[in-house]
Amino acid sequence: MTFAQSPSNHLPINYDLECDEEFCPDDFESPFRLHITLPRTLKPAAAGKRLTFHSRERSTGTGVVTSNDKTTDLETIHDGPLDPHFFQKGFYLEAKTGFQVWPGSRLLLQALLCELDDAPSEGSAFTRLKYWQDRLLRSSTPLNILELGGGIGAVGGSLAAAGANVLMTDLNVLVNHGMGPNLIRLQSSSGDCAAFFPFLTSMLPAKQSEDNIVQEPIVIGCGCARPTVLDWFKPVSEQLSHDACNNVDLIVACDCIFLRKIVDPMFNAVAEIFRNAKRSEEVTCLFTYQRRNLMGVFITLEEVLDKIAKRGWSVQCLAWRKVVVEDDGEHDLYLFEISSKGQQEALRNDVESNCEEKKES
Ligand SMILES: C[S@@+](CC[C@H](N)C(=O)[O-])C[C@H]1O[C@@H](n2cnc3c(N)ncnc32)[C@H](O)[C@@H]1O
Repeated sequence: MTFAQSPSNHLPINYDLECDEEFCPDDFESPFRLHITLPRTLKPAAAGKRLTFHSRERSTGTGVVTSNDKTTDLETIHDGPLDPHFFQKGFYLEAKTGFQVWPGSRLLLQALLCELDDAPSEGSAFTRLKYWQDRLLRSSTPLNILELGGGIGAVGGSLAAAGANVLMTDLNVLVNHGMGPNLIRLQSSSGDCAAFFPFLTSMLPAKQSEDNIVQEPIVIGCGCARPTVLDWFKPVSEQLSHDACNNVDLIVACDCIFLRKIVDPMFNAVAEIFRNAKRSEEVTCLFTYQRRNLMGVFITLEEVLDKIAKRGWSVQCLAWRKVVVEDDGEHDLYLFEISSKGQQEALRNDVESNCEEKKES
């Protein structure tokens, strides 16, 4: 499948969502601090709120300049076998990528939190983003977002602060050493999660006893978040409760589609959530994809789109821009939305035509 990007949904960086980063050499575990300041147009409890996320490595391709930059020293400490976390359980290349923030995070946050210009000629370019913005920022019912591969929690924490209920998921090592500690640091002193169940409060019995540093939903700004383990190589039903899956409104996944070997497992997880969600036809998945060099290990966009088509899902590019990635040049970065609606309509048509055929015979 080929893909042509349209000038009408080009989304350059908007500085209403401020991002900056600093290097704290004394913190050996997580020496970088990514600060995200939410747009001032949000509700008072979120407007202009500055959220800080500790990370092991500096963000990449986000357009953020690190102040007090001592990257060269740091990379010699953190690279390869000298990485101090190398022998931690579950710490392999995919997990290592989660300890830094990737460009899709900033694109998705901007797309959902910043005001969007009307496209000059095609008024409908940002229609879907405006729909999700309305549900997230202006609805009286909080939006239930399931985040896949949330890493250190920058996206999930920011969406929660803006008003969503976010079930933030990743591998165990990220839940307990990345997003978990960051959410605890972000916890608001006031607020109550009572209104946020059952999406965030119901857990499988096995999970309640699992070693997870956060056992309850955490209030952040206008919303609430909870980190929990979801490994795409295992069935979702063994890891998330029925109530959690049932109540999902939107799935988000930033920069999770890059290594070829993890794409099918991630799409299997998305498919299982689509199937089990109560409002199945309305639930969609927003994901970002960045083109890269070194294709081979990394999957191409055309292959990703083919995989989506083979599942009978529909896909739409909602926004894109160019990003500069250190040591890898300039690349296109996209925000896509996938939906199983087409697949469900096709299934219904199949069933109806089967029934008609049976009646006739
Ligand atoms: C490139 S990082 C992106 C992190 C974050 N979303 C961002 O954009 O900054 C990919 C994420 O996918 C997660 N991941 C990789 N394999 C996974 C799996 N099998 N199950 C769940 N998460 C996985 C990693 O742990 C990591 O957090």
